[in-house]
Formats: sequence, C-alpha cells, structure tokens
Amino acid sequence: MRDKWTPAGWRALPAKHIPTDYPDPEALTRVEQQLRSYPPLVFAGEARNLKARLADVAAGKAFLLQGGDCAESFKEFHPDNIRDTFRTLMAMSVVLTFAASRPVVKIGRLAGQFGKPRSELTETQDGVSLPSYRGDNINGMDFTLESRTPDPERLLKAYSQSAATLNLIRAFANGGYADLHNVHRWMVGFVADSQQGKRYQEIADRISEAIDFMGACGITPESVPQMKQVDVYTSHEALLLGFEEAMTRIDSTTGDWYDTSAHFVWIGDRTRQLDGAHVEFARGIKNPIGLKCGPSLDADELLRLIDVLNPNDEPGRLTLIARFGADKVEAGLPKLARAVTKAGRSVVWSCDPMHGNTLKTDSGFKTRPFDRILAEVRAFTDILPAEGAYPGGVHVEMTGQQVTECIGGAAALKEEDLSSRYHTHCDPRLNGQQALDLAFLIAEQLRGARDAGRRARAG
Ligand code: PEP
Ligand code: CO
Repeated sequence: MRDKWTPAGWRALPAKHIPTDYPDPEALTRVEQQLRSYPPLVFAGEARNLKARLADVAAGKAFLLQGGDCAESFKEFHPDNIRDTFRTLMAMSVVLTFAASRPVVKIGRLAGQFGKPRSELTETQDGVSLPSYRGDNINGMDFTLESRTPDPERLLKAYSQSAATLNLIRAFANGGYADLHNVHRWMVGFVADSQQGKRYQEIADRISEAIDFMGACGITPESVPQMKQVDVYTSHEALLLGFEEAMTRIDSTTGDWYDTSAHFVWIGDRTRQLDGAHVEFARGIKNPIGLKCGPSLDADELLRLIDVLNPNDEPGRLTLIARFGADKVEAGLPKLARAVTKAGRSVVWSCDPMHGNTLKTDSGFKTRPFDRILAEVRAFTDILPAEGAYPGGVHVEMTGQQVTECIGGAAALKEEDLSSRYHTHCDPRLNGQQALDLAFLIAEQLRGARDAGRRARAG
C-alpha cells in the first residue's frame, strides 16, 4: 500500500528529467508559489466530462484523436498557428467521424505542452558543450550558455501563453467557427489542391447537403446546439512536476484533487518508473491520464502500473499510448494487450506512431518516414482486436503549417526538402497535408472494421 497522497508527495521520490540546475533554486520556489495563486486553466468538471467521453472510447463506442506540437514554443506562438492546428484537428476529425460513424474525442497537445525529456543532458557543437534544450518553459533553444541556463520566469511566460492559447481554442470551439456549416473552411489553404484536399471537399459537400436537408426538416444549430460547437480538450506531458503541483487544486464540488493545468496529462515513456515521482504525482489527481508504453515496458510492470494509476478500474481514467516503432510493435504490443485483456482492466488503447519512428538523416535532421508511421498504425489496428481489445485512438505530433519535417506522404517529401521549412522545437511533426493523409488512411481501416462488424452481425 502507498501512503496517503499529497500534491507534493512526489518530491520525496527519484524524479527523472526534471532540471536540478536552476542557478537560483529559491527563485524557482518563488515562481511556483506565485503559480499557486494563479487561476486554474481548466475546470474539474471539464476533466470529468472528458473522462466520460474517454469511457465511451474504452467501451469501443468512440474514437480518440490527440494531436499537436511536440513542443510548443514562445517563437511559434501566433493566432494563425493555433487556428491552423485547431482546424487541422477538426478536418481530421470530420474524416474519422464520417468513416467510423462514431464520435471523435478531440484532445490537443497544446496550451501547456512545453517541457521535454531529453536523452542527452548536454549538446556539443564545434567542440563546445552546453546543457541540452529542454523546452521553452525551462531554457532557450539558442546555443549560448545564457540561453541554455534554466530560468524560472519561463514558467510564468508558459502559463500566460497556455492561457491565451486555451482562450482562443475555446473561442474557436464555441464561438461559431466550429459550426458544421463551416466544414469547408477547416481545411488549411495549402492542402486544398492536393488529392486529400479534394477528397476532403467531397466529404464536406456531403455533410453540407445533409445539413441543408436537416435544416429543411427543422433541425438547425439553433435547435441543436451541438451542431455549432465542439468540445476540444487540452493535454501535455506532466513532466515538470513543480509546475503541475502548483496547478493542482481541490475541486470544491467533489473534494478531489485535479491538476488544472490541462484536462488530460500523460506520463512519458522515460518517466514511468513505478517507484518514481511522475507515477506518484499522477496517481493522486483525478484527471483522465495517459501512460506512454514503449518497448522496454513488460506486461507485469504494466499491470502493476495500472493498479497504481487506476486502482478502481474507472473507465476513461487511463489511456495507454503505445509507441513502439513500426519495427518493434509486433514484438512488443501483443503481450501487453493480452495481459490487460486477461486482467479485465478497462483502458483506452491509443497509438502514438511518432516516437518509435524517429531517425536522423545524413545531413543531421531528425525525421520520421510517413510510411513507417502508417505501418505502425496499421499494425496497432490489427494487433488489438486479435488480443480482444479495441484500437481506440491515435496520438500524433502535427501542425497545420506547411512544414517539412517528416519525409514521404502524398506530397512525397524527400530528405533534401527537410531544410526548407524545418521549424519544430523538438521532434518532427506531420504537416497539415500529411495529417489529413493519415486521417484518411485510419478512416479506411476504421471503415473496414465497421463493415466487418456489420457483416458479422447480419450473418
Ligand atoms: C512526447 O510525446 O513528446 C514524448 C517525449 O514521448 P515519449 O515519452 O513516448 O518518448
Ligand atoms: Co515528441
């Protein structure tokens, strides 16, 4: 049995990937103290709604789409970027809803996704070694000692940026932009002329026709408000526990602790130690949470983590995000899925086809080949049903922008193209077109599974 939980209890345990080299630790404590008095970014009731939506996913009745930047940055903070991520998520979700005839639960990796676990503590350029870049809420990307030194004031800036981002997302979601009548406007400009763009327009035309028909029958956004707004939730990796602790508050309705920095937070693949700080922190908050599951996780350990993180087996509480890599998923995922099914535990299974498929090109760019991303999603969608589980979602690093960071896809981006618009602050993201492309491919698989289900029921 573990001790009674407190928001600061993690401090007594080993914590990986949390910087300890702040030059003035007292300044960090002062900033954390200040954050404690700042307004929550999200409300406990919203996190509970998301948990209920995720319970639908766990039951096989909905699909989860989670996506956004690998790392948000101060430099890329711009309303157009937020809008383009928002509408790319919306467009992907239209494609998926249309294919699967199931609701799509939308969670952005945004409004707080700053801190990064890094494999190397230092980076060396031309014989000079400096601390690695760890995300804009910790230090800066410029290769100077000043910029790479952790600065607690950055946490306050990240808080403000998260608040402004979330404010805009809420406005897009509820202020008219997400009205289904706008379905044609959700496709980012540069995607319009592509093959995926044309396929998207066809779906959008059919949706518009259906809306006109429903309107003629008296079903309008005025009578059915769900037609003019959507629920978009926020998420990030709960990495910097000092920040998460400061944002963790008691919900006055239930008396439970909620991390009000986002609706959903997850534990990274590098910080999921059973006796470590991150698992300890996450077990006590009532938000829906995620756990990244990579090749080094074995089935017994996963079951023990599930016991700690979801002891009451609440549906929607825990999302397992499989991130093996196209070459490792066949070896790693079936045994985890089998163990969870056998133990009868309720989880959402989601596929992160990004983090196991990163490679470095000869010219030094980190990239991800689109065909490997696709291969991992395919394998995931085949493996889970075979183990009695439902392939419930995807978790992707993407942007609406026309970046050149992942190779391949319908536009056949090549290694030589990477340098032209490589803007990510950490890992390579799908661009708007590749993201839509991926949505169509997943949609085909979901439709295949749905039709097979119908045939089985009819037969
Ligand atoms: C991430 O999601 O950005 C990440 C670091 O993933 P993982 O923990 O799966 O490596
Ligand atoms: Co990443």
